[in-house]
Amino acid sequence: MITETVDLLSIKEASEWASKHTGKNVTPSNISYLIQYGRIKKMGENGLTQVSKKELEEYYKTYNGHREVSWRDQLGDDLNWALSFEQYKEAETTKHVHRLHPYKGKFIPQLVEYFLDRHTDNFKKQTYFNKGDIILDPFSGSGTTMVQSCELGMHSIGIDVSAFNALIGNSKVTKYNLVDVQTEISRITKALKIFLADSHTLEFEEKLLLALYEFNNKFFPVPEYKYMLRQGKIDEVTFGAEKEKEFRPIYDELVRTYNIKLRQDKEDSFLDKWYSQHIRDEIQFVFEEIKKIKNPDSKKIISVILSRTIRSCRATTHADLATLVEPVTATYYCAKHGKMCKPLFSILKWWETYTKDTVKRLSDFNRIRTSTMQFCLTGDSRTINIFEALNIKYPAFADLVREKKINGIFSSPPYVGLIDYHEQHAYAYDLFGFERNDELEIGPLFKGQGREAKQSYIQGITDVLNNCKQYMVDDFNIFLVANDKYNLYPLISENTGMQIVNQFKRPVLNRTEKDKGAYSEIIFHLKRK
Ligand SMILES: C[S@@+](CC[C@H](N)C(=O)[O-])C[C@H]1O[C@@H](n2cnc3c(N)ncnc32)[C@H](O)[C@@H]1O
Repeated sequence: MITETVDLLSIKEASEWASKHTGKNVTPSNISYLIQYGRIKKMGENGLTQVSKKELEEYYKTYNGHREVSWRDQLGDDLNWALSFEQYKEAETTKHVHRLHPYKGKFIPQLVEYFLDRHTDNFKKQTYFNKGDIILDPFSGSGTTMVQSCELGMHSIGIDVSAFNALIGNSKVTKYNLVDVQTEISRITKALKIFLADSHTLEFEEKLLLALYEFNNKFFPVPEYKYMLRQGKIDEVTFGAEKEKEFRPIYDELVRTYNIKLRQDKEDSFLDKWYSQHIRDEIQFVFEEIKKIKNPDSKKIISVILSRTIRSCRATTHADLATLVEPVTATYYCAKHGKMCKPLFSILKWWETYTKDTVKRLSDFNRIRTSTMQFCLTGDSRTINIFEALNIKYPAFADLVREKKINGIFSSPPYVGLIDYHEQHAYAYDLFGFERNDELEIGPLFKGQGREAKQSYIQGITDVLNNCKQYMVDDFNIFLVANDKYNLYPLISENTGMQIVNQFKRPVLNRTEKDKGAYSEIIFHLKRK
């Protein structure tokens, strides 16, 4: 009989071996993490956990293994790989209501869960919160903390200075009458189709798609074209521009035949500038239909669907969806898809896609949500009176907060000069007419990253923590997620009479498609001094 000899190592031996092999400090906890998430197999008997050296060696040859080693190189050995959440697929990080509306700068739900829930592991050696606790997020954004609190049986208050962000958050945690939501959606979709029957846009789009299909098949055949590109046999920029020019007369002719109005007469607002006349008319039509909805909750969620729809219909190329450059009103060569693409001429397709998707996400969330209270207030977290503001919107919740006080914070503050949070949803402010409070944003992009911006950032976050402290239990736990590249948080905690009791440094994977460089953020754990 042939017996296979396996080179088994205990966890400690494995960490020593891996440290030597990679030239990095691989701790026993790192090895446990690899076992826990199925990267390598657990072996051994009688309570002694062992791993195979060969398998470990294989792991460090894989993409994930390489990345882990190279990121440690760039970001430091204290990087906590267990907080990368790399084991989760995109469907899980955007589960149920988390993908009701795009929002730049959200954290992933698993990170919130990790700190709020009752589990412990090698890195999180104690728990911080219990069911029934009240969690505050003074920078609520798209409401991730509220949603996860609701999932975990905790109450949660959000605050955001941007009225539209508060609407996104609240639309996620509201419990709907889904029959009413569906009835209203069906009514509006039917009305939109009747409205479209009078215009020629759908027929125009059909003809255009057919022409593009033939053209693309001829000049950008799949997969040959992309293969030739990769081989360097085609100069993409020249070829793309040439074909763009060649297709243009076909496009212009169709536009003339169907009398398509590509631009609006004025460019005063976002809605005027970034939508063709036909799309603008459809948006207005649906908006008027939404105004007829009686149930305020149904009205709220259907408004969010319209907002998501119009975001996808801005007159831009596929490559510039995240950062708008100039309105695009004609067919163009799309480097992302390796063929000629076109802007949109009707909202119908996205409206139908997003209405279905939203109802499904809401019912998925219904199945797991707990009956707890959540609400996002619109206001400036430096100055808001939480009791009073909540009392106006949700008196029963205000009573509970007054009686129990807030147990902790889980939040990701804006950082110095990174994002303009109002501006990213300019289309929604235009459409719904919400008041903008850009001036009250802490650390906006438009104020830059200079000395003054940093000073005002420190003051801003300090004021928020000092304000929120009044509403919290003495033994609170505050978790703040930040990429503190200017090392401002030690000073902020000093200013607020708190101390940083722990720091968790996590790698941030797959931030955006374009940006795959090594990047980390820190979760600061603060307590009263
Ligand atoms: C990094 S984002 C939070 C993202 C959130 N964790 C999520 O998952 O969606 C920061 C948020 O802080 C808000 N904000 C900025 N200044 C504020 C202030 N003075 N008071 C309240 N919220 C503010 C911004 O509008 C933005 O939505």
